[in-house]
Amino acid sequence: MNSKKGLALVDLDADGVDRAFRADVLEGLSEPQKAIPARWLYDDAGSQLFEDITQVEEYYPTRAETEILRDRCADFASAIGRGRAVVEFGSGSSVKTPLLLKCIEPAAYVPLDISGDFLRSAAADLSAKFPGLPVHPVEADFMRRVELPSEVADMPKLGFFPGSTIGNMVPRTAVDLLRTMRETLGEGSMLLIGMDLIKDRAVLEAAYDDAKGVTAEFNLNLARRINRELDGTIPVEKLRHEARWNDDFARIEMHLVALEDIAFEVAGRSFTMEAGETIHTENSHKFGKRSGNALLLAGGWTPVERWLDNRGLFSLILAEATIPRSAP
Ligand code: TRP
Repeated sequence: MNSKKGLALVDLDADGVDRAFRADVLEGLSEPQKAIPARWLYDDAGSQLFEDITQVEEYYPTRAETEILRDRCADFASAIGRGRAVVEFGSGSSVKTPLLLKCIEPAAYVPLDISGDFLRSAAADLSAKFPGLPVHPVEADFMRRVELPSEVADMPKLGFFPGSTIGNMVPRTAVDLLRTMRETLGEGSMLLIGMDLIKDRAVLEAAYDDAKGVTAEFNLNLARRINRELDGTIPVEKLRHEARWNDDFARIEMHLVALEDIAFEVAGRSFTMEAGETIHTENSHKFGKRSGNALLLAGGWTPVERWLDNRGLFSLILAEATIPRSAP
């Protein structure tokens, strides 16, 4: 979730162990369906592997969304207009932002990120590319309401949330976030949000299980991180990466599957997995036109435009923080 980056605010115990990481892992491994929150995939090694994923042949979302941003400049200019403060949720090291900014003549750019390091380098890059543009980075967890800098208080806002990151949340969390974004941005604001589309199952599964094994490495890195940071003895070579389509929930799930019965320790506690048992590590929900719109509406956003790439793989949706006129 957005954050493919390290956390700025970590609470370490006397042994230098991240308390939240340990608590999440111990709790997650104790559930009947073992599951670890996806945010822990993104240590330094994980963040680098994630950047590599966006380059692999089978992983189409980054290329498809970039294509839309390139091709639809004129549409953005007319649908969004000039003079908005663009607020990017989880700015990361995105190459997508300049493609948008150059189309719409924004009045300011406000990148939000939980990692101060990423934030400062993203802000510096952007300032260099757009010399006259006021840039006001804010180090914050955008899952909560963010107080925007006073300089942009009176400007109309455009939220920018690319990458289908919304799909990495279960729907109730996604709706909470959309509502929070609406509070952060205010009445009359707009939101440009990427949503990956439901498509052929084989295409989806391949995107999350590439032939070179980069996504597998990314997933297995979590087990390695547990061993390294939490005194773990997980036999990583006895785990296999799996990406599976869950049709009922319209999502790709990433799991680590035990190849045989195994037993291991983490932070002094013992765990077992039977052959075939899994640890669930990530979800990536996919959307149709109606399910995407329903999610936005539930979060207080009315869809106004929708663009797809040439192959119809990915969607970029523009929505408004208004109550639909048709609502009784
Ligand atoms: N939001 C993107 C997606 O779901 C990126 C992403 C998040 C991702 N976690 C991932 C990609 C794990 C591959 C594996 O596709």
